[in-house]
Amino acid sequence: MIPDKAPKENVYHGSEELKKEAHIPTFEKYKELYLKSVDSPEEFWGDIAKDFFWKTKHSGQFLDYNFDVTKGQIFIKCMEGATTNICYNLLDRNVHERKLGDKVAFYWEGNEPGDELTVTYRELLQRVCQFANVLKSQGVKKGDRVSIYMPMVVELVVAMLACVRIGAVHSIVFAGFSAESLCERIMDSQCSLLITADGFYRGDKLINLKVLADEAMQKCKDKGFPMEKCIMLKHLSKEAEESPQSPPAKRACPDLQVPWNPEVDLCWHTLLRGSSVECEPEWCESEDPLFILYTSGSTGKPKGVLHTVSGYMLYTATTFKLVFDHQPDDIYWCTADIGWITGHSYITYGPLANGATSVLFEGLPTYPDVSRMWEIVDKYHVTKFYTAPTAIRMLMKFGSEPVQKYKRESLKVLGTVGEPINPEAWQWYYNVVGEKRCPIVDTFWQTETGGHVMTPLPAATPMKPGSATFPFFGVVPAILNESGEELEGPGEGYLVFKQPWPGVMRTVFGNHQRFETVYFKKFPGYYVTGDGCRRDKDGYYWITGRIDDMLNVSGHLLSTAEVESALVEHEAVAEAAVVGRPHPVKGESLYCFVTLTDGVTYNRTLEAELKKQVREKIGAIATPDYIQDAPGLPKTRSGKIMRRLLRKIACNERDLGDVSTLADSTVIEQLFQNRCGAAV
Ligand code: WTA
Repeated sequence: MIPDKAPKENVYHGSEELKKEAHIPTFEKYKELYLKSVDSPEEFWGDIAKDFFWKTKHSGQFLDYNFDVTKGQIFIKCMEGATTNICYNLLDRNVHERKLGDKVAFYWEGNEPGDELTVTYRELLQRVCQFANVLKSQGVKKGDRVSIYMPMVVELVVAMLACVRIGAVHSIVFAGFSAESLCERIMDSQCSLLITADGFYRGDKLINLKVLADEAMQKCKDKGFPMEKCIMLKHLSKEAEESPQSPPAKRACPDLQVPWNPEVDLCWHTLLRGSSVECEPEWCESEDPLFILYTSGSTGKPKGVLHTVSGYMLYTATTFKLVFDHQPDDIYWCTADIGWITGHSYITYGPLANGATSVLFEGLPTYPDVSRMWEIVDKYHVTKFYTAPTAIRMLMKFGSEPVQKYKRESLKVLGTVGEPINPEAWQWYYNVVGEKRCPIVDTFWQTETGGHVMTPLPAATPMKPGSATFPFFGVVPAILNESGEELEGPGEGYLVFKQPWPGVMRTVFGNHQRFETVYFKKFPGYYVTGDGCRRDKDGYYWITGRIDDMLNVSGHLLSTAEVESALVEHEAVAEAAVVGRPHPVKGESLYCFVTLTDGVTYNRTLEAELKKQVREKIGAIATPDYIQDAPGLPKTRSGKIMRRLLRKIACNERDLGDVSTLADSTVIEQLFQNRCGAAV
């Protein structure tokens, strides 16, 4: 399945320097270890597990599972019988056994340049223990769910690990979500406590978070689920003496509103006073719940993805170490928000398990200007940098000058996640940001997979721009056709996995049936990702986008990502999104939305050029039927284009359904007004 030899032509390689120090230096080594991971998972993961602390060792099979709905309930169990505590492994083990107490865990960089803070492993351990004691004193017990709705501050990590220390289950809700969404998630996971903050700035914009939290709590109450307690961190309103570890906020915020309900609200800082910096961890079973994280579902109602203790710990630690080729002196920066899975796995769990030093960034890539990312890279000498294609494409619009204002000499590995990266953006990232020196790890994974599942390893895997290349250790992909048959060799179809890896989700919280229906019903025996995938003649995997983003034009399956990529290769186009619009003869026609590069105006000549470009890149079958000039695209708060809404706009359907995840709703009306009516 994985070729013996990597292709030699049209591929990019990691530098010789990187190969010298890399954990997995060659493709041959990758292949050898991959086969071991699949043939003898017990041995492969057993070696890795030796680095961790176990209160008791596991007794049963390393991985026990059923992926076949026709044979009974779906289940995945890893390391049954073992007991451990992740917080202990992330912090105590690093401070006491590995003597990393003085090592920096996080360089916190605030929204406002100049707001900064350094936290060592020892300090983090103490702060987590203190807060864990606070949670205990508030009656939180093992297995209880705690909702966390906070900005990107160190206390967010403190809150999540304090839950983990006492065996409580965190359910983090991204602080950009609405009160309605928070209420829905609190109720679905039956949380007993909410942890939030007064407010924060995103760029220039003040977010009165406590106001939203209160609205959510009111909604919960109205629906018969009154919250008893809410702990609020003073992030913007704190007095210096209340939190000596944190700097006072740099700007006055006269518009900050901090409503306070003495019956429910508790002050983070007051509770901490006198709280001990020691707290015995709660020893948990391997399959005890670790956290719930909601991800959107096709039916509109979000799914509470549940991850469990041991498997998730091993998997995030190993993927972090090998995919970013982590070395002890690295400074790592993942720009995601902890409110998403990327932040859970690759800001908190994976990096801390490895004793890594990370940057924790509160702000935006465009504030105060579009050089902010590169300024931070130079400030902290970032070596490994992980971001999303949407951020890359957005920065690309401004050209290379804002990047080149900074040196970026420290960078060694670049990563992307979240959606297919079009080769154009890949090239810009590689050539301009990484100056042809840094391999790009295009990591494909999902909230459900817990960690990377398809990805290059930076020194070992020759890269092809836009391909997530090969499976990570323990992961066995297959591509199925519509009838559920596995394709051999080159081909395109449904991406599925044939067996579990330690970090895969275990259930949808409170709804195991939904878990089975969504991921296992369509093709019994396989975990179905919901993504389309193509395998080329060299065995490389190319994620083509969600299956529901597939188009069928005159009987040909086309992926929206392919067409978008062809459009974006035109220098006038900054971003593109393509959807299908029903067509009486062809089944579907291609309706394209394009955001143009700054300063370019849309006209008929450009339209003709774009059509020609797509035709030339993919074929006549992919020629766009409609192209609409779209100054803005509807995106989720994590930056994903909401194609579902674009489909409605293309069809002029005003009933949009659930738009709670939409970041900026003003773009919608504009798009409706400018929609293309007749065929062009
Ligand atoms: C998409 C984010 C192509 C995919 C970690 C997946 C990608 C969904 C990639 C999961 C990638 C993520 N290439 N597509 N490198 N990474 N995706 O749950 O459609 O927010 O199913 O997890 O993002 O999104 P989620």
